Amino acid sequence: MKFHQVSKLQGTVSVPGDKSISHRSIMFASLAEGTSEITNFLEGADCLSTIDCFRKLGVDITKPEPGRVIVHGRGLHGLQPPSSTLDVGNSGTTARLISGILSAQNFTTHLTGDASIQKRPMKRIIEPLSRMGADIRSEKNNGCAPLLIQGSPLRGIHYTTQVASAQVKSAILLAGLYADGITKVTEPCLSRNHSELMLRLFGADLHTEGTTAILRPGSSLSGQMISVPGDISSAAYFIAAGSILPGSDILIRNVGINPTRDGILKAAEAMGADITLENLRSGNGEPSADLHIRSSALHGAQIGGSLIPTLIDELPVLAVMAAFADGTTVIRDAAELKVKESNRIDSIVTNLHAMGCDIEATPDGMVIRGGRPLHGAVIDTHDDHRIAMSFAVAALGAKGETHIPASDCVTISYPGFFQHLGSLCKS
Ligand code: S3P
Repeated sequence: MKFHQVSKLQGTVSVPGDKSISHRSIMFASLAEGTSEITNFLEGADCLSTIDCFRKLGVDITKPEPGRVIVHGRGLHGLQPPSSTLDVGNSGTTARLISGILSAQNFTTHLTGDASIQKRPMKRIIEPLSRMGADIRSEKNNGCAPLLIQGSPLRGIHYTTQVASAQVKSAILLAGLYADGITKVTEPCLSRNHSELMLRLFGADLHTEGTTAILRPGSSLSGQMISVPGDISSAAYFIAAGSILPGSDILIRNVGINPTRDGILKAAEAMGADITLENLRSGNGEPSADLHIRSSALHGAQIGGSLIPTLIDELPVLAVMAAFADGTTVIRDAAELKVKESNRIDSIVTNLHAMGCDIEATPDGMVIRGGRPLHGAVIDTHDDHRIAMSFAVAALGAKGETHIPASDCVTISYPGFFQHLGSLCKS
């Protein structure tokens, strides 16, 4: 795809449903008794992989209309052995969370995914799940998928994670549903808490104390009506573009603003962004709002510490904002960027550098000296959806033409992204 500079963004957009919440809704509904109905479900490739895996495990899942999914739960002990390998595609969330569930079943599963998934670290779940008694092996013995998971009896543990990761926390909690005894997960700082909120909604005996989630097994889950709020990670591209391009004025409707996910709002405001939250509401314990974004003069900021897990997926587009901001932005404590769908420190730094930005990589983030005008370039997305979308935003503020050859990957999390972005662009 080719992009040119535009003068501003104007109009209203509704972003698709939250990816993390969509995944969890299918998983927990599959393990529940009775029927669940999910609306505003994200029909991105990652969440469709989750549906595909649970169908292979015997769950009846139908999509009567776009964004509406009906799951006929099989209860905690009703999953069936799959007749073929489970393929999670590009989805780390599917791979890690489902491994917690599969570790406790009375059958064996092979699990794999695409080239990117086969490079992503799975030791972080293999280690705690093994401590619970799971028999889970990396088939190539390299700590990555493909995985062979032989269901086993599990015991509750108290696990302290090195890095705040909702995928690791959730895998352990899901295994804990089947364990003998209480399961506790303590994180260095709080990662997204959608699993905790939704497991409680479905009837699990779970509570939190500070950064520790505590699950007592024994309760069955029961089917629910879930309305998925819009994904703040998808809204982030419009927040950035609307802030960067002078004269912009946009409304992003129905965005999830769970405090464990709203770091992009805090970081953008620290950089001088003009964001107003309107129409605040809450459903299924998840707060949401409409976001009114007006362009403003941006300046550099320090981004690090406990803010990082709350905006980890937004760092690529935040780096783009920083390139357009006056002064220096330092992103630190974000070494996790290296093990996402691509090595995002590399993919951000090389692409922004190609567009003329003064940027350098550090071991746990990057330093961006913003304010230099950017020019068009050929972007290497590394087939990473968030890199493709972030650089489409950069392109709108850059002189000349930007070419993003491998842009189809946006369908992982936001199938209509380019149409939505185009509908807001004013030349
Ligand atoms: C996710 C957690 C985060 C995030 C990912 C989605 C989730 O990963 O980057 O896109 O849905 O639990 P980590 O748990 O590895 O930080």
